[in-house]
Amino acid sequence: MRKNIVAGNWKMNNDLAQTEALLSDLKKQTKTSNAEVMIAPTFTNLWHAFEATREDDIEVVAQNMHFAENGAYTGEVSADMLKSVGVKTVILGHSERRAYFNEDDATLAKKVDQALTKDMRVIFCFGEELTDRKANNQEAIVEAQIKNALFHLDASAFSNIVLAYEPVWAIGTGETASPEQAQDMHKFIRKTLNDTYGNDVADNMTILYGGSVKPANAKEIFSKPDVDGGLIGGAALKAADFYAIVNAF
Ligand code: G3H
Repeated sequence: MRKNIVAGNWKMNNDLAQTEALLSDLKKQTKTSNAEVMIAPTFTNLWHAFEATREDDIEVVAQNMHFAENGAYTGEVSADMLKSVGVKTVILGHSERRAYFNEDDATLAKKVDQALTKDMRVIFCFGEELTDRKANNQEAIVEAQIKNALFHLDASAFSNIVLAYEPVWAIGTGETASPEQAQDMHKFIRKTLNDTYGNDVADNMTILYGGSVKPANAKEIFSKPDVDGGLIGGAALKAADFYAIVNAF
């Protein structure tokens, strides 16, 4: 079922004390929209965040996980570990994972499979680089990223997937895709889903936009018909800004 979602990706920010302070600020905010609210603290603070928000309308999600069940993967975190601290949703394929940790489509397909096997929900991220956009190649790039990591799945699996289009050139740069650029790409993504899986999957898919979303531009971006919410980086680190975005529907 298509939903409005605003997810805050804290990335590698906030130690325990900072996490406590931000959680305390978030709990003071009021939600006036119908958006589902998610926050993604770093691994070490997931349990604390889960405990602290038990009574709140906030879901705590993870920024990454490994594809294996368990074993000799030093430094990695499994789906069962995430589930044991209350996490039911995981962000996969973020451009920073792709760029700095060499996560390719094949690896991401395995991570998606493992998350779904474990009955977790996946926020699957993808997006073109600036050179792709300049070459007007963005649709081909995005189509390949989606198809390579997800199109081995049955249609029913898509009910546990949220898509997040994040043009790499707009992440943390202050440069946002225009609402029209976001809408065009989201429409293309829905068409790509429709071509292979049909209307139900395409119409019910929640597609988020990410890349320098702020209180000042969220309303216009979210007003586009194929944009169902946002994956928020920098602006998710201030509670008032984050909730201004949550309430921008
Ligand atoms: O996961 C979030 C995105 O990378 C967007 O980050 O809002 O700081 O541009 P940003």
